[in-house]
Amino acid sequence: MQDIIDKTAFFVQERLKHAEAGHDWWHVLRVWNNTKLILVHEKADRLICELAALLHDVADSKFHDGDEHLGPALAGTFLNSLQVDADTVQHVKNIILNMSYKASLGKVIFHSKELEIVQDADRLDAIGAIGVARAFHYGGFKNREIYNPNIPIKRDLTKESYKNSTAPTINHFYEKLLLLKDNMNTLAAQRIAVERHRFMETYLQQFYDEWNGIK
Ligand code: ADP
Ligand code: NI
Repeated sequence: MQDIIDKTAFFVQERLKHAEAGHDWWHVLRVWNNTKLILVHEKADRLICELAALLHDVADSKFHDGDEHLGPALAGTFLNSLQVDADTVQHVKNIILNMSYKASLGKVIFHSKELEIVQDADRLDAIGAIGVARAFHYGGFKNREIYNPNIPIKRDLTKESYKNSTAPTINHFYEKLLLLKDNMNTLAAQRIAVERHRFMETYLQQFYDEWNGIK
């Protein structure tokens, strides 16, 4: 089992060499670590969780013309080359296809404990201090405004409007990041999310105070 995990980690590290810094190998490493942290408290198939954590961003659809099947397909081809059993490969592919925030806004048909764990691990990396860094990095990558008080926050985004949003990065906090705390699947992730969520609220308060020249 360790051999398969090591080979997968190496494959992902190579594949993500030139990735955008919010979805690069370091993101994957943090999600992998978060997965292991949650697994201390949850009973689930460890190999499936670790493989899905490692492979979940090998071809993020937003960097591949919206193609949501490329990531699962690439992951499947790779795992088959290691002779991983067919059920495990299929489960990992299902997790990758269904775990993203976008996917969760659409029609979700696949559920498993393993998906819940890896989804939480990925979501934890979207909040807190790392979450702030990733959001502004991604916003910069897309040349979004940092903040524009004239552009209102859109709540209850559909999958399509979430994907096509060009709003300032501050809006993304309200459209996604601040909603994650109450959408964690596992108790372990809920607990970790509390502190990270509080940090984002403090951050936003300081941001507005500075924006308005109050502090
Ligand atoms: P998922 O992969 O779960 O569908 P996304 O890829 O949309 O989620 O978001 C992953 C991370 O990329 C977010 O947590 C955030 O840091 C960044 N990001 C995505 N969309 C935006 C956006 N519109 N503005 C700022 N950051 C964004
Ligand atoms: Ni991710």
